[in-house]
Amino acid sequence: MKAIYLLLTRISIFCFLSVLAISDNSDAYKLEEVHGTTQDCTICHIINAKNEAVGLIQPITDLCTGCHPDRIAPSEHINDVTPSMDVNGLPLTDSKMTCVTCHDSHEKKHKAMLRADPKDLCLLCHDF
Ligand code: HEC
Ligand code: HEC
Ligand code: HEC
Ligand code: HEC
Repeated sequence: MKAIYLLLTRISIFCFLSVLAISDNSDAYKLEEVHGTTQDCTICHIINAKNEAVGLIQPITDLCTGCHPDRIAPSEHINDVTPSMDVNGLPLTDSKMTCVTCHDSHEKKHKAMLRADPKDLCLLCHDF
């Protein structure tokens, strides 16, 4: 009986700690604004001693899909490939197109933080 009681106590402590851990992790996901003017650089960047944002904490696709998991699916645009066409100045990372080729994670100038108006964006790379 005592063993069971101890076990239950352990389980409830474990659950309590898990809940703490989960709510801790998901704080960033619940923020009203991640990308706007009040964004916390450390959500995505490693910060150096001079308080500058240097590298990213994860490769871009992992970083973005960590919070936007539905954006990596067969129905979504191809990602992490080296385009065969001219990209008209859109940024590539290690010559590959990523989420930030089309989206600017710092700015909300265009709809859905795109780098151009949706009607113009596709035509920077395609001539359908
Ligand atoms: C920590 C979680 C988190 C990470 C990491 C993250 N996002 Fe987001 N994203 C959000 C949240 C929350 C919103 C909605 C609130 C906002 O706009 O800030 C959002 C909104 C967006 C939107 C829609 C904005 C709009 O105005 O409609 C786009 C596009 C987007 N994110 C792309 C990205 C890309 C690209 C990356 C990787 C560079 C990324 N996100 C990384 C949490 C995240
Ligand atoms: C939602 C994720 C996210 C947040 C939050 C974020 N950044 Fe970035 N940042 C990126 C990504 C992705 C890149 C592109 C890196 C690449 O192309 O290799 C980037 C690039 C940069 C660069 C390189 C120059 C450039 O514009 O491409 C600087 C400087 C920078 N960020 C500073 C900041 C600062 C300062 C903050 C806080 C105010 C911040 N970032 C917040 C995702 C983020
Ligand atoms: C080829 C360009 C392109 C690439 C690459 C791309 N997106 Fe998008 N994304 C778009 C377009 C276009 C929309 C739709 C905007 C609209 O609503 O008209 C969109 C929409 C979104 C939205 C929803 C915005 C909203 O208002 O609901 C999110 C979040 C998002 N993308 C995240 C990502 C992430 C994360 C990646 C990388 C895995 C990615 N995107 C790669 C072009 C792109
Ligand atoms: C940065 C350049 C770039 C942008 C911007 C871009 N695409 Fe693409 N797209 C590609 C690449 C690269 C492929 C992979 C096939 C290839 O290399 O031709 C592709 C493939 C496709 C395909 C699959 C058909 C095929 O040829 O395999 C469709 C459909 C498509 N894109 C639609 C769009 C739409 C719609 C937009 C605008 C929301 C858009 N693309 C924006 C680069 C881009």
